[in-house]
Amino acid sequence: MDLTVGAGGHAKVIAEALGPEGLLVAVDRDQVALDIARSTLVGQPVEFVRGFFGDLTEIARSVEGRRFDGILADIGVSSMQLDDAERGFSFRGDGPLDMRMDRSEPVSAKEYLANVPTDELTRVIAEYGEERFARRVASAIDRARNAGSIDTTGELAEIVRRAVPKSRGSDKDPATRTFQAIRIAVNRELEALDHLLGRFGTLLAPGGRFAVISFHSLEDRQVKQAFRTRAQEGDYQLLTRNAVRPSPAEVSRNPRARSARLRVLRRKREGEQ
Ligand SMILES: C[S@@+](CC[C@H](N)C(=O)[O-])C[C@H]1O[C@@H](n2cnc3c(N)ncnc32)[C@H](O)[C@@H]1O
Repeated sequence: MDLTVGAGGHAKVIAEALGPEGLLVAVDRDQVALDIARSTLVGQPVEFVRGFFGDLTEIARSVEGRRFDGILADIGVSSMQLDDAERGFSFRGDGPLDMRMDRSEPVSAKEYLANVPTDELTRVIAEYGEERFARRVASAIDRARNAGSIDTTGELAEIVRRAVPKSRGSDKDPATRTFQAIRIAVNRELEALDHLLGRFGTLLAPGGRFAVISFHSLEDRQVKQAFRTRAQEGDYQLLTRNAVRPSPAEVSRNPRARSARLRVLRRKREGEQ
């Protein structure tokens, strides 16, 4: 099961490696991603499910209680979502302030920013964005929303850039951290991960492996802690003592991979020590 099929990059490699009896179930919360994956994976033994891994009960129902030998979650936002200005994730282009991975969800980033209390926004930007100037940014957003609604990614990026001193020696856009934080909050990403880490066992067959790729230190810490606890309890075996990181060659081919961390856990079979 690929819980985050996206454009189908991992899924294609997995599907091609399946034996004659093999089947891949490909899940994503984003209908646009599923449509693209469907065309990438045409002719492969793949079943598609629109689903949110923050609710595994619903996904388990869609697959009628089947168990899987491998479950992969490559979490976060996809390049496809980031690069499409219309999806409203990016501070580079100008688009509607949306940021929903699943466009049928009721709250976009624009609505979130219109309603979130300033203290809560400060916490979100500080924690999820690891932004030192979170209070300044949240106050600037508060002043801007009191003066009128914030409608576009360009407007939000300018508000943040004016609020944050540009750090010397870094060519990173100062809006990066705040955009990441708001995206994580709008999509309830940490709650979804927490749910997944607590319930993946309902979908994993004995002997099966559960692999998570994360891009954010908060998420990686959550994964590391949950995997250690499971291994200590005895029913699971940790296959990655340290997170697997991309090689320098991979990072130079694909710079967005630079902060990726892979961790893998294996479910023991009955009676296995
Ligand atoms: C980093 S991309 C995956 C890319 C994919 N592995 C590939 O090879 O093309 C993450 C994908 O996960 C989806 N996603 C993120 N959180 C999700 C969740 N809680 N439930 C289901 N899908 C989710 C996003 O919509 C996005 O398409």
